[in-house]
Amino acid sequence: MKLEYAPAEDTFALLDSLPNNVSTALEIGCGSCFILAHLDAKYKVGCDIRKPAIVSSGINFVLCDGRKLPFRQNSFQLAFFNPPYLPSKGIQDPAVDGGRGGVEIALLFLTQSLDVTKDGGQIFTLLSSFSDLSLFRKTLIELRLNFSEKRKRLFFEELDVFKIYARKNSG
Ligand SMILES: C[S@@+](CC[C@H](N)C(=O)[O-])C[C@H]1O[C@@H](n2cnc3c(N)ncnc32)[C@H](O)[C@@H]1O
Repeated sequence: MKLEYAPAEDTFALLDSLPNNVSTALEIGCGSCFILAHLDAKYKVGCDIRKPAIVSSGINFVLCDGRKLPFRQNSFQLAFFNPPYLPSKGIQDPAVDGGRGGVEIALLFLTQSLDVTKDGGQIFTLLSSFSDLSLFRKTLIELRLNFSEKRKRLFFEELDVFKIYARKNSG
């Protein structure tokens, strides 16, 4: 059995972008729970299809599929995910394989995040220059979501952190 995803550049880039002083936070695909352990939030929930080896105190871990979350609507101020984002034919390794354009899993996590975040809440996700960023952006625009992007250049890829405003009833 494969080990859980070890924190890497993508993990740190997403953590660096997250806000402080959050009331309720959800991480989809939390892996080792590294980000949650370092997040300044009162109530923290992490979910993944794999159980982390260790769950620090103060983190509520839920074993579940991020494509169908078991949480109530409007539960979280912040939702975030560093999804599997590499383009892949099938899903051999769920830690990295993101579907055909590398954004298919991310888009499913996004749909679920929109459901469970409060109106005015925020969603953060990280994708890469290997992912189909145009498809992801196009979907955000079609959903009439406001968003901004922050790019970090590594020597072999670029990482894009998206900040998405979960405003509902935007008309
Ligand atoms: C790129 S890793 C990120 C792990 C951790 N958040 C980090 O930043 O270090 C992606 C994570 O998503 C999880 N994952 C993949 N498919 C999932 C699904 N359908 N539902 C929940 N988690 C999933 C994987 O098990 C893995 O832990």
